[in-house]
Amino acid sequence: MNIGVFFISLLTIVVSLPAMAAQRDEFPVAPPPLSVGIFPCSNCHAALEVNTKKRELKYQHTSIKLHHAEQERWCLDCHNARNRDKLKLVGGETINFTESYRLCGQCHGNVYRDWKAGIHGKRIGYFKSGKRTYFLCVSCHNPHDPKFKPIKPEPPPIRPQLNDGK
Ligand code: HEC
Ligand code: HEC
Ligand code: HEC
Ligand code: HEC
Repeated sequence: MNIGVFFISLLTIVVSLPAMAAQRDEFPVAPPPLSVGIFPCSNCHAALEVNTKKRELKYQHTSIKLHHAEQERWCLDCHNARNRDKLKLVGGETINFTESYRLCGQCHGNVYRDWKAGIHGKRIGYFKSGKRTYFLCVSCHNPHDPKFKPIKPEPPPIRPQLNDGK
């Protein structure tokens, strides 16, 4: 292949990949960071009455304290009441946990746009099977209390043993 043609086709691929992703509005993502054993939620919820009342939870999920525009909001604005294995968009559409960025994107449009472009957040992998992997918003932000606090600080560097008594 002529080198010019090579660069033009490379350029075409590089330019069209994000465009293709944007068209589908669907991104290869790292797995949702749900607690081990909690999913499917329907294991419990299929047998539970839906209680839409805003209240302090006493029997389950007691460690979840909403601190995310909580005055105007309750759990079932984001979680789907009827099928707890899904999230819910404002318009009523239900989505999987692997697409939670769409939920966040409804209210954080600018950040969502930056995330899609790879400016906000982080992507890993290089065209692994033609795809890059995005971290979900919830990989970094707790959806119930999202204001950024470092979640897992890196461990300090291990200092070489300078004085091991020998
Ligand atoms: C702003 C939207 C939003 C609100 C409001 C919200 N959640 Fe969530 N919640 C999410 C998202 C998104 C996830 C998925 C996180 C992930 O993928 O790990 C989640 C995850 C969970 C989980 C799984 C937690 C775990 O340990 O893995 C539980 C349980 C839950 N929510 C319950 C609640 C309850 C109870 C409330 C109300 C007190 C609530 N949520 C309010 C968006 C929300
Ligand atoms: C071990 C059983 C169990 C599992 C698993 C479970 N839940 Fe719950 N959940 C409950 C119970 C019980 C309540 C009611 C708690 C109360 O009223 O104090 C509840 C309440 C909730 C509420 C508050 C609204 C309501 O219907 O009362 C949300 C939202 C919720 N769960 C979401 C989830 C999500 C999302 C998952 C999966 C990621 C999940 N739950 C997994 C038992 C469970
Ligand atoms: C219904 C609208 C709505 C949705 C959906 C929503 N947010 Fe928010 N978010 C807000 C509002 C309003 C605030 C500011 C008030 C507050 O911080 O409590 C906020 C605050 C935040 C902040 C803190 C901003 C700061 O100044 O540090 C982060 C981070 C955030 N949201 C991330 C998320 C993520 C991640 C999701 C998806 C799981 C999400 N939001 C879904 C409305 C929303
Ligand atoms: C790899 C981790 C990571 C991912 C993924 C991520 N964020 Fe953030 N986000 C951060 C950090 C760190 C900050 C605070 C520093 C800063 O402002 O850049 C932040 C700040 C924010 C803020 C407040 C500041 C602002 O610019 O408004 C919002 C809102 C927010 N993120 C929403 C989101 C949403 C929505 C998504 C998914 C579409 C997302 N984030 C994905 C790490 C992440």
